Amino acid sequence: MLLSYLLYVFSFFCSTVAIQTFLAVNRSTTTTLNNENDALLPHPQSLSLLSYDHFETLEPHPIYPNHSVRIKKTDFCDGNVSAYTGYIDIQARHLFFYFFESRSNPDKDDVIFWTNGGPGCSSSLGLFMELGPCRVLDSGGPKYNPYSWNTNANVFFIDQPIGVGFSYAEYGETVSTSEDAAQDVAAFVTIFFSSFDQFKGRSFHMAGESYGGRYLPLFASAVYDNNAKLLAAGQTPINLTSVMIGNGITDSITTLLSYFDVQCTAASVPPILDIKTCVYMKSTLPRCKKWMTQSCVDQFDSVNCGAAYSFCSSVLSTPYRQTGMNPYDMSRKCDGDISVTLCYPMTKYILQYLDDPAIRTLLGVEPSLTANFTSCNHDVGNDFRAAQDTLHPTKDYVSALLERGVRVLIYVGTYDWICNWVGNERWTIALGWSGQREFAREELKEWYVDEKPAGKMRSVKGLTFATVDGAGHMVPYDKPKESLAMVQRWLRGDDF
Ligand SMILES: *[C@@H]1O[C@H](CO)[C@@H](O)[C@H](O)[C@H]1NC(C)=O
Ligand SMILES: *[C@@H]1O[C@H](CO)[C@@H](O)[C@H](O)[C@H]1NC(C)=O
Ligand SMILES: *[C@@H]1O[C@H](CO)[C@@H](O)[C@H](O)[C@H]1NC(C)=O
Ligand SMILES: *[C@@H]1O[C@H](CO)[C@@H](O)[C@H](O)[C@H]1NC(C)=O
Ligand SMILES: *[C@@H]1O[C@H](CO)[C@@H](O)[C@H](O)[C@H]1NC(C)=O
Repeated sequence: MLLSYLLYVFSFFCSTVAIQTFLAVNRSTTTTLNNENDALLPHPQSLSLLSYDHFETLEPHPIYPNHSVRIKKTDFCDGNVSAYTGYIDIQARHLFFYFFESRSNPDKDDVIFWTNGGPGCSSSLGLFMELGPCRVLDSGGPKYNPYSWNTNANVFFIDQPIGVGFSYAEYGETVSTSEDAAQDVAAFVTIFFSSFDQFKGRSFHMAGESYGGRYLPLFASAVYDNNAKLLAAGQTPINLTSVMIGNGITDSITTLLSYFDVQCTAASVPPILDIKTCVYMKSTLPRCKKWMTQSCVDQFDSVNCGAAYSFCSSVLSTPYRQTGMNPYDMSRKCDGDISVTLCYPMTKYILQYLDDPAIRTLLGVEPSLTANFTSCNHDVGNDFRAAQDTLHPTKDYVSALLERGVRVLIYVGTYDWICNWVGNERWTIALGWSGQREFAREELKEWYVDEKPAGKMRSVKGLTFATVDGAGHMVPYDKPKESLAMVQRWLRGDDF
């Protein structure tokens, strides 16, 4: 502590980032940077020097003049580690995040960035339902999660894009493409690593699930490409090591076609739909594949691609939706009204927790956000769909990252319908990159946790595809122990 305090003082002189403090009660004024009444404080050497009462605002980074970060210490959720919450401010747009230090060795352990999907869903679902240090699964409030991903890593949860969770914009601006969202995420990552010296150069993993399969290859590519700018400015690049995608939609066309396999064959659970429906579905597959390939892949034609996707998804997905089964877990019925509960009624406890005024104050949530918390913002989702963001695959970004030595883990719970394992295996095998032939030839083999089979996997030259047996869409919720074992082995660079 003393040592880091001394470094803190000295680092002031070579700092590129100035700090202003604001009382938390005056938080609503923090968007007014450079207020002459606010004292400038030196660049913090260590997150641990931040205050519980104050938000500290990191002033704009030279290559991101329009972005800054507000951050405070927030003692919650994991009583054994330091936790922080804050906002990334991009002029009048503000992205909320949670940051938990590692339970093992925060000064050495890797950093994981986590985003949920949607588009439009809050990462508080990932945090409080799946992989966070505490989970809110019943009316009893947060409970310690022994399988949290911060067991050996420092972990971020971010509400993005603006409009999601506690993120907001002052003048009604919106983001409706993953490309635009990627610019804000890359700016955040840069500002974070350049502001907190102890994390500089630390191995960095970008993770998420579901629509994260579209986001993350773009986000990681933006971070990678941004490193050229950092190097040119004489700064430490981000040590982007890997991308982890759980039950992702990285190739929406392959995913859509794979609905046939998971509901009409025994690929996952015994066939669910009747023979007549399955035979009709099968007859449309060649036409859907050809139509979507021509109008969405070979050359993107928004009218034709939209029409193809709409026809094919009505044939391939409507019958399953009508069964009343859970789209995130083919082994069970949807519990509750999907538009309210996402088929998991316990999500209401997370909403109640985040609506508690005391919790909002603790987290430093912008006071003008008075509406009840919603786990998924449907306006954001609709904006992305209207922009046809959902129809643009990001698998080519995956190959580009692999060629540059960034490892990629595609893991999939086998019971998921919506972003199922069949579609994910198919696109990883078809992916054009220098390891393709070897990857496609590699047999799936079992991986184990506590000497029990946990799923199957194949891994070649940095690309790993893994299934998690008996898990639905939200793997760390269904299989917390197995998911932590998988992540620990992945971070160590081991086969698993
Ligand atoms: C904001 O801070 C000023 C001092 O800088 C203080 O006088 C004022 O009462 C604060 N505002 C609120 C709402 O507490
Ligand atoms: C910052 O914002 C200003 C005003 O909106 C804009 O003109 C400028 O291009 C932005 N700079 C960067 C680097 O994005
Ligand atoms: C701290 O960690 C232990 C397990 O090592 C756990 O039992 C305990 O609940 C944790 N404390 C808090 C406050 O979360
Ligand atoms: C990036 O992280 C890896 C793994 O921790 C480490 O081996 C490597 O030296 C780091 N690279 C840089 C440039 O810091
Ligand atoms: C917020 O939720 C509570 C119940 O949790 C409900 O009574 C209230 O009407 C909701 N408020 C709004 C603005 O929807």
